[in-house]
Parts: sequence; C-alpha cells; structure tokens
Amino acid sequence: MLAEELVEHALIARRRAYAPYSGYAVGAALLTTDGAVIYGCNVENASYPATICAERVALTSAVAQGKRDFAAIAVATQNAGSPCGICRQVMAELGPEMRVYLADAAGNFSVTSVAELLPDSFTGSDLRT
Ligand code: THU
Repeated sequence: MLAEELVEHALIARRRAYAPYSGYAVGAALLTTDGAVIYGCNVENASYPATICAERVALTSAVAQGKRDFAAIAVATQNAGSPCGICRQVMAELGPEMRVYLADAAGNFSVTSVAELLPDSFTGSDLRT
C-alpha cells in the first residue's frame, strides 16, 4: 500500500475522534504486514488522564484482533503533530520496525521511523539483564 493511501485512511480515522475537551482530533491508520488497515482515534474523557491516544487505540485494537506484525502507521492531526512519549514507547514495544507517516489535515506528510522517534528505548531485553 502506498504511503498516500495509508495517510488517507488516517484522515478518515481522524473524523471519528472523540475530542470534546481538547478539540485536537487525531487519527491513526496501522498497516499490518498481511495488508490489513486498523484504525485508531483519540478518545477523551471528562477525567482527563483516562484519555487514550489514537496511536495506542490502533495498536491495542490490532493486538486484540490477533495482529502483531506491522509495516507502517500513519498519524493525522491538524498540524502534523508528533506522537506523544507514551505512544512512542508503545510503538517501540509492538512495532519497532514500522515506518511512521506524520500527516496534517490536508494530507501533507513526513516520513520517519520508530527508532528515530524514540532512540535508545527501554525494551523487554532491558528486563532480562
Ligand atoms: N493525542 C493523540 O491522540 N496522540 C498523540 O500522540 C498526542 C496526543 C491526543 C490526546 C488528546 O486527546 C489530544 O490529542 C490532546 O492531547
């Protein structure tokens, strides 16, 4: 799948965002290595810390659907905002080799990687030393 197509999916996912408090809608589209696309959007809560980000919704939904191998994730926001630290950590856990596309609302995007977003990450191997 072309990067542009995955970004289009992230823009669709973004329209499903539930963000009544921040007004900052985020959509994510996760591409599995077998070609499936799994959507995520941010889901906010009146108890603010209960909010979950779009990237983690996509990744955790995928795991629940039996998907563990990811080729890429596209994240769409108004301004191509960068993923938060918690999402970077979850990406490093579940999709360390993923390509990452960061898109704005018009579909313009940049390409990066999980390793670039979170170098020297803490991983499962650190627990086994
Ligand atoms: N948000 C995401 O969905 N992903 C990120 O990586 C950064 C932040 C959401 C959480 C909250 O609903 C809103 O953006 C403002 O922080």
